[in-house]
Amino acid sequence: MLKLWTIDEAQQYVAEARRSNRIVGVVPTMGALHEGHLSLVRKSCEECDETIATIFVNPTQFGPGEDLSRYPRTLEEDLAGLERAGATAVLIPSVEDMYPDGFSTYVEPPEVAKPLEGVCRPTHYRGVTTVVLKLFHAIPGHHAYFGRKDYQQVKVIQAMTRDLNLKIEVVMCETVRDPDGLAMSSRNRYLSPEERERALLLSQALRRAKTMAREGTYCVASLQEEMRRVLVSASSDRPTTESTKTNGVDAIDYAVIVDAETLSSVSSLERPAVALIAARVGKTRLIDNEFID
Ligand code: PAJ
Repeated sequence: MLKLWTIDEAQQYVAEARRSNRIVGVVPTMGALHEGHLSLVRKSCEECDETIATIFVNPTQFGPGEDLSRYPRTLEEDLAGLERAGATAVLIPSVEDMYPDGFSTYVEPPEVAKPLEGVCRPTHYRGVTTVVLKLFHAIPGHHAYFGRKDYQQVKVIQAMTRDLNLKIEVVMCETVRDPDGLAMSSRNRYLSPEERERALLLSQALRRAKTMAREGTYCVASLQEEMRRVLVSASSDRPTTESTKTNGVDAIDYAVIVDAETLSSVSSLERPAVALIAARVGKTRLIDNEFID
């Protein structure tokens, strides 16, 4: 696996690959890689001749008071994981290369960036669209792989590629979960054993809404109320231990069911919808989502 330390090197590498008619896949990450990230790499390897991952902890997508400085950095393990998963190259640019002195140009995010995370983290998607566009210029590949775990992020990037005429296909890949249902996340490592158990409430609330919808509850308000009920309190349909008997999550940013394309509010399940939750357990903010069909 080739290590590319600058954007120049990456552009030369991709130009050469494209001259040889090789199909190029891109997998942007912030490192601290787990099986969720590596599943994107494997998917790209199945579909492309070259799979180029990127590792860059992007400062512009962290708000004031968010965890930029304590974001986990595990470069050696990340490189070993990427190699095992089959990546042919990895770009690890410096902050100076990505954001040269005097940097002041940003991508204005699309409409779909406004609700949900857009409300809770007002500058987040501006940082994401800007860095992803820059990474797409550094690695002008054919396909780019993103996880459904960050559903709104995928929708934002799809809208950006459409609106800005980018010739890269955005592929959304399934969320990888631990056996007990917790969606894998670089932030899960911050959870104490007791917090990790309460973190399971996110996937349980989503599954509960999905099951209720399948059984005939189409009223979105009722489904959202049920998700909140699962999130804040013990419920008979989850295992009760001493620590989970009375404790729910510590704060709910949102627990909603919205239109799967626009992420705007819906009152009943007539079009494809998605349930999304953002909640805090201890100091850790977690997100998860599930299609409601
Ligand atoms: P990061 O959080 O490192 O995630 C990189 C990619 O891995 C994203 O597409 C994310 O959706 C995906 N991913 C994370 N957890 C996953 C899981 N459990 N299953 C499947 N995929 C998962 O998302 C970012 O970085 C950044 O915002 C980035 C796009 C790299 C821009 O800086």
